Amino acid sequence: MPAASDLMRRLAARGALADPAWQAAFAEVPREVFVPYYYVTVSGGRRERLWRDDPDPERRARWLSGVYDDQPLATRVRDGELLSSSSQPSLMARMLEALEVRDGMRVLEIGTGSGYNAALLAHRLGGARVTTVDLDPGITGTAREHLAAAGYRPRIVTGDGVLGAPAYAPYDRVIATCAVRAVPPAWLAQSVPGALVLAPVGTGLVPLRVEGPRDGEGRFLSTPAHFVPLRGGAPQGEEVHPVPSACAVPPHALRQGSFHFLLGLAGGSLAPYDAYELWRDAGRPERERYGVTVRDGLQWAWLDDPYGPHTWSLGGPLEGGA
Ligand SMILES: C[S@@+](CC[C@H](N)C(=O)[O-])C[C@H]1O[C@@H](n2cnc3c(N)ncnc32)[C@H](O)[C@@H]1O
Repeated sequence: MPAASDLMRRLAARGALADPAWQAAFAEVPREVFVPYYYVTVSGGRRERLWRDDPDPERRARWLSGVYDDQPLATRVRDGELLSSSSQPSLMARMLEALEVRDGMRVLEIGTGSGYNAALLAHRLGGARVTTVDLDPGITGTAREHLAAAGYRPRIVTGDGVLGAPAYAPYDRVIATCAVRAVPPAWLAQSVPGALVLAPVGTGLVPLRVEGPRDGEGRFLSTPAHFVPLRGGAPQGEEVHPVPSACAVPPHALRQGSFHFLLGLAGGSLAPYDAYELWRDAGRPERERYGVTVRDGLQWAWLDDPYGPHTWSLGGPLEGGA
């Protein structure tokens, strides 16, 4: 029977998990407790539910083997829209390692979802040092039950993660597992100087080193990340629209992840063809050449140099509500 230790060994073999403390967390936290059912897409784009208590033993076996595969699992879907999922374990492992936690640190997670990532954090740091927030009381209620069943007791807050969780601040680390257009100011304001805020911005992951309540900076990791977007809350900047096929961007560029990354980051302020010219002339830059800076509450993304020439505003001091 597949088990957590098999998943841990697979993640380590793939190079996604090297730290022994995180290896122990992945080997010992049972993901199956957090995903008693999930949806898989089958032929014709239909969604099928696999669940722990299925009367058919073959389907129960499929459920369990999927739990310990390195794949994201869709756990909540409404009107065809994916609302919540348990993220891909190798992506979670890379994020947790990039978070550079040490014993005694206090961590805020935005996007409780299934509660599995909060359990990994609680295994590593102790439940009293972990706070996790989700928008939806149905999601936090279920996550609380699963966390308790697995023996973990992080603080679970139902609310808009854009506002952080001021009641338990300050934090040494903030990790978001839903995608944002810009890093909400509250995440920096509720962190200590020197903290790291790891946020999925567009289709990348940026660790911001916090310099003060309204200041921070970081460069994107090479890891691509496709998270459920943050819902509701304060304005998150302009929506990025898919590139219309009729526009003059050459089709080969549209097939490149690095071009889509730039569109996701600068799509609100750059027309697709201008983005294409920049991408071409800059030598098709990969994610690590981009970064995000927050100075005195103003926030922008940049290519190569925070002070230009290629910078794009991600939000003013009022956006996101500090
Ligand atoms: C990919 S899932 C999180 C996965 C989770 N960390 C886990 O281990 O299962 C993203 C979650 O973000 C939540 N979310 C979306 N918008 C939010 C918001 N404004 N505040 C807090 N959570 C939000 C969704 O409800 C969803 O549960």
